[in-house]
Amino acid sequence: MSNSVSVVNENGVAIVTIDNPPVNALSFHVRAPLMRALVDLRDDASVTAIVIACAGRTFVAGADITEFGKPVQQPDLRAIVAMLETIVKPTVAAIHGTALGGGLELALGCHFRVADAGAKLGLPEVKLGLLPGGGGTVRLPRLVGAVKALRMIVSGTPVGANEAHEAGLVDAVFEGDPTTHAVNFAREIARKGGPFTPVRDRNDSLGETDLAAFDAEAADLARKARGLEAPVACAQAVRNAVTRPFDEALAAERALFMKLVASDQSRAQRHLFFAEREAAKLPGKDTPKRRIARVGVIGAGTMGGGIAMAFAGGGFPVTLLETSAEALQRGLGTIEKNYAVSVSRGSLSEDAKRQRLAQFKGSTDYADLADCDLIIEAVFEDMAVKKAVFGKLDAIAKPGAILATNTSYLDINEIAGSIARPQDVLGLHFFSPANVMKLLEIVRADKTAPDALATVVDLARRIGKVAVVVGVCHGFVGNRMLAARGSESEALLLEGATPSQIDKAFTDFGWPMGPFQMGDLAGLDIGWRNRKARGLTAVIADALCEQGRFGQKTGRGFYRYEAGARAGVPDPEVEALIRGKAAERGITPRAINAEEIIERTLYPLVNEGAKILEEKIAARASDIDVVWANGYGFPIGKGGPMFWAGLEGAARIIERLDHWHQRTGKEVFKPAPLLKRMAETGSWEAEATG
Ligand code: 3HC
Ligand code: NAI
Repeated sequence: MSNSVSVVNENGVAIVTIDNPPVNALSFHVRAPLMRALVDLRDDASVTAIVIACAGRTFVAGADITEFGKPVQQPDLRAIVAMLETIVKPTVAAIHGTALGGGLELALGCHFRVADAGAKLGLPEVKLGLLPGGGGTVRLPRLVGAVKALRMIVSGTPVGANEAHEAGLVDAVFEGDPTTHAVNFAREIARKGGPFTPVRDRNDSLGETDLAAFDAEAADLARKARGLEAPVACAQAVRNAVTRPFDEALAAERALFMKLVASDQSRAQRHLFFAEREAAKLPGKDTPKRRIARVGVIGAGTMGGGIAMAFAGGGFPVTLLETSAEALQRGLGTIEKNYAVSVSRGSLSEDAKRQRLAQFKGSTDYADLADCDLIIEAVFEDMAVKKAVFGKLDAIAKPGAILATNTSYLDINEIAGSIARPQDVLGLHFFSPANVMKLLEIVRADKTAPDALATVVDLARRIGKVAVVVGVCHGFVGNRMLAARGSESEALLLEGATPSQIDKAFTDFGWPMGPFQMGDLAGLDIGWRNRKARGLTAVIADALCEQGRFGQKTGRGFYRYEAGARAGVPDPEVEALIRGKAAERGITPRAINAEEIIERTLYPLVNEGAKILEEKIAARASDIDVVWANGYGFPIGKGGPMFWAGLEGAARIIERLDHWHQRTGKEVFKPAPLLKRMAETGSWEAEATG
């Protein structure tokens, strides 16, 4: 037997243990010995039942994603599951941790599934731009019904063991060592005697399917998929399970899988999966970490409140500091209201709400931050105010406490240089709403100590954030690139495009919303105030703000919002205003197509990303993709701007940037040297690190 698969015979019950750390993925070196072991046990008269279990922290978490895109080595998972279903003695999967994707499909090849109460089961392939390719779409509906299977497979969200038990996916739930329980379960079942029906022959749950209701739900899910192929294919495959014979539906699932696995969308989503894990890795992984027991947050406004909630949700006690008792009360009140909304939506229990609220300690006295191990300031975006706050922290924070700023743009080296302990200073740039948004830009300043950085990278994971380490520059990675994306928006309007036309080009591309919808949602006054403070102007946006059109909150912005509506409608007044401003500048409007809109907004975005890589503000192109997919809604099916540049072709991007640079002379269009090298070598990374 190999190291990856071992077998012991415990008084007639054979236990097959898969051991392929870290997540027991079904790599070729697992599949081959697993198949051999199962064939031997099928033919071994001394074996009355078979248990499939896993060593380590989890049951099989899926096919080995690193093997996708390479020639399939037999036996594949389908062959193993088909073989399992020829075994007449009872087979039992003993599940702990997570049974995901191919892992759950392996378990579906068994007659029975028993699970530890803390286990999770799911088919998350859709998140990789795929559908379950080992029979999951055809077998799961036979146990849980077509509609439940549709929801599980299209969302990719796993269910807990108890829910799986209620749904009919799991036969028994236990606390404690699942193998021991599975062996007892198998022995008992074998003693009672068969025949045991393989899942492929169980049709009980399918007969009840209301196909019209199924189709309505599938159509709704397809609409929400926003151009992603995988959710639509998932729904199609589950429908096949209802309407076609088993083998036909299985073959159709295979055909869909092969098509998706070769698609750019799936390549893009797999790229993001590994990119997110790579982004959290720092050189020197053995760097010691500082102990973080209590967190302090300064400023209980939009960001401070959300940041405090993110830490409370991760189990950390939080001291929240404000300038006055009223401001503190307002901040705590908003936090309480947010939790109440979660309770009313069913995403948080009353108990959990009470526990989280109990984590907060409010204060208006800096001395109360003296016992905090990490202190994050989220006060007004003003260098003088920030320096004053850091000066106070320098005086009261305990030695070794990490002092972080949530600044969006300011120079963190300057903040760090203003106090006596710059090694403890770094940026933690959360995104709004900070308790919801996954992205966290961790900003390393020139003097940030490696152990301070390693500590916050680890902490980010503990509070459920996707962390990306970036360097200091105006706006860091995300906001700096956002500025490059937005720099042509006004010019496009003045030259003849409308806000809705530009927004549509974005949503057709796969963004959840366009730049003007986004501006109206966030509030146009924020950027207006920011511009005024920095002596900058934006012709159209400033004019709208001067008329009190701040966006959704005032019912009018780039769009008009009918009483309480969240979706805006085009406003002739805005279009007239734009035409007026264009006429003042002697610009004659012309027709502008979607292609031009994408070229003038997204090519500069990629170009700025290349400059950021050149300057080593980001360590890897894939880090930039993680920032944009998790913080700004870049379509995941395109893998982030830098991955998309590869699909689009760097040579084409350069050609069009050159074109626009010649026409306008604008710096955003001047191709970065690294973009040129990318066009020659086809890779960002080799050049960035070379
Ligand atoms: N294949 C290959 N490597 C995998 C993997 C997989 N299915 N799942 C995880 N890994 C790797 C990660 O890349 C990471 O590697 P690294 O340490 O070198 O960076 C390591 O395992 C640990 O992963 P995480 O950091 O994500 O560990 P967590 O404990 O946070 O999470 C997990 C564990 C919940 C299992 C999570 O890794 C996960 O969601 N994995 C993917 C599950 C999945 O998508 N399964 C379906 C695969 S597709 C499939 O099965 C097709 C089939 O239908 C034919
Ligand atoms: P906000 O105006 O909602 O909140 C700021 C809070 O800080 C106010 O409640 C104020 O009373 C308090 N405050 C001011 N000075 C203080 C001091 N000396 N001590 C204690 N409290 C003080 O502002 P917001 O939006 O929360 O922004 C805070 C910081 O976060 C800024 O640096 C901003 O650039 C950054 N940021 C904002 C994002 C957003 O979308 N709003 C996103 C990411 C970062």
